[in-house]
Amino acid sequence: MSAPRSAAARVRELRKQIEHHNYRYYVLDDPEISDAEYDRLMQELKALEAQHPDLITPDSPTQRVGAAPVSELEEVVHTTPMLSLENAFDEEDVIAFDRRIRERLETEQPIEYAAEPKLDGLAVSFRYERGRLVLAATRGDGTRGENVTHNVRTIKAVPIELRGKPPELLEVRGEVFMPIAGFKAMNERALAKGERTFVNPRNAAAGSLRQLDPRLAATRPFDVFFYAIGETRGWTLPARHTEALEQLREWGLKISPLIRTVQGASGCLEYYSDMAARRATLPYEIDGVVYKVNRYVQQRELGYVARAPRWAIAHKFPAHEEHTIVRGVEFQVGRTGALTPVARLEPVFVGGVTVSNATLHNMDEVRRKDVRIGDTVVIRRAGDVIPEVVKVIVDRRPKNAKVVELPAHCPVCGADVEREEGEAVARCTGGLFCPAQRKESLRHFASRRALDIDGLGSKIIDQLVERGMVQSPADLYALTEEQFASLERMGEKSAANLVASLERSKSTTLPRFLYALGIRDVGEATAAALAEHFGSLESLQEATEEEIQQTPDVGPVVAAHVRHFFDQEHNRDVIAALRAHGVHWPAMKRKRANGEGPLAGKTFVLTGTLDAMSRDEASERIAALGGKVSGSVSKKTSYVVVGAEPGSKLKKAQELGVELLDEQGFLALLRDS
Ligand code: IVH
Repeated sequence: MSAPRSAAARVRELRKQIEHHNYRYYVLDDPEISDAEYDRLMQELKALEAQHPDLITPDSPTQRVGAAPVSELEEVVHTTPMLSLENAFDEEDVIAFDRRIRERLETEQPIEYAAEPKLDGLAVSFRYERGRLVLAATRGDGTRGENVTHNVRTIKAVPIELRGKPPELLEVRGEVFMPIAGFKAMNERALAKGERTFVNPRNAAAGSLRQLDPRLAATRPFDVFFYAIGETRGWTLPARHTEALEQLREWGLKISPLIRTVQGASGCLEYYSDMAARRATLPYEIDGVVYKVNRYVQQRELGYVARAPRWAIAHKFPAHEEHTIVRGVEFQVGRTGALTPVARLEPVFVGGVTVSNATLHNMDEVRRKDVRIGDTVVIRRAGDVIPEVVKVIVDRRPKNAKVVELPAHCPVCGADVEREEGEAVARCTGGLFCPAQRKESLRHFASRRALDIDGLGSKIIDQLVERGMVQSPADLYALTEEQFASLERMGEKSAANLVASLERSKSTTLPRFLYALGIRDVGEATAAALAEHFGSLESLQEATEEEIQQTPDVGPVVAAHVRHFFDQEHNRDVIAALRAHGVHWPAMKRKRANGEGPLAGKTFVLTGTLDAMSRDEASERIAALGGKVSGSVSKKTSYVVVGAEPGSKLKKAQELGVELLDEQGFLALLRDS
């Protein structure tokens, strides 16, 4: 039975809308709808396709989850070779490069360059025929690469179909990479499961893209920027590389927003310092910048040497890897008692800072890398990632190098250290008697997404625990201004502020409170799911493991941790004490189904800060009344809530004539709803 025409039409329309929103999100970085709205379109499409499987096509946005695995990576011969770049390591190299170019072109005029970030990922060629992605291949040796189409199709930032009127044939090149945050999260997940981790985002991207099973690639946080054109048919190239990139962007291909045109070597060097300064704040790694002669006529005249063009050069940043010596290995105790081995290093200057510690993650990592005290190691620092030991230089191992042993007792409290069967992590069994665990639990309790106690910093917590002033989070609420003022680095003013923020923190929400308790494996999402499923702390506390497992996304392991937590008398006592001090939260309402509630159908955008509540709280309140919160202003926005120091969203709202609400107006609306 084939699908009715109406379903087919709706499927086409949904795909068109989803492609449009993908373009707004990935290419323009300017979404028109919220994630939730996007999810609804996707859900509707999935449901229709499930009802009418004959409507499923391989290029449907639902098919990004990965099709069947391939048996091997096929070889692909590049129709035009994929070149590499010469490197420049300092100013002189760049000046010499620019001089060579002017000599060859016989001109005194400054050369116009396209200056681009050099992304640290994997070069890939993408072949579009009549606007459709037909082949994606790795660079390989430049002449032959590997067919990775099955994996590339799962990358949401890579369009399966181009927009507008693309040429008959368009082969583009770009870099597939992993943003730092996604890479970290992926490694943490692997670590928790005792699986092998990747040393850096580049290796992670390369490893993941060359998998046979695309379902694996579909779970990896890939991103892409396109930066070059290969073979084309049916397109008269514009005069400049940057103009060609503009055209690619219109066809839906993601171009780095950091690309600039600059004049001469001095323009290049200015760009380099600018990027070097911004490097640490970028969400992905760059290992330098690339300068390309911008005019195609000049590129053609300059031509190639061996495998690299004469018209481009990569100007590399100083390495983020250095050699140093491991002086010792110490064990740090975390909130849940996990012991993390940390290498104490001979201080070394890497990527702009002096590093004297590097994490070794856990004992499995120590054994796998075979790090011994006295070893010379390569350490690496990437972005704001904690420095890591990459590998040991075994040739330089001294005879007396010492093997690292897991201590039998907690280095902080002396309690037994246990390592459960099959777990990568060893833990101190001291629980909240261990000062290290106590400090970490307090930090967690006070953190922004938990009870959000402003002014209760690390140094203060250390003192409170070390002086025995605080055993559990409940004790915080019994302390007076005078007691806080007696601490080091604490004036009267900040003591008064801290008492005020403690007072404010008493009014919270159930999800935040559950998260703040620091139950093992209960992160924000799980806390929210538990709160919603049980509605109150009492019903959760009384629930059996089986009942806890009924919560969406909660499995037996988490359920056991939750039950175990509430079975401990001291935990129940702490909760009772917190409530006795006035910590409270509103009763959880059943989450409203879409389109219910007084604010149903209204979309809000928040800009600036509000006095009465945080942004998260404001969003929660709006959602509780059935409204939606979006990150960007469009014609469809119902209200823009304007707090102190509003951003560019205010201007956008004024341009579009969207109704503005000041804080008073917003609070009144919440009240009346
Ligand atoms: S252009 C003919 N532009 O660097 C020019 N490459 O060392 C070919 N890369 O294999 C490359 N960012 O993987 C170009 N903005 C950028 C780049 C870039 C990173 C990589 C690419 C290439 C390698 C050459």
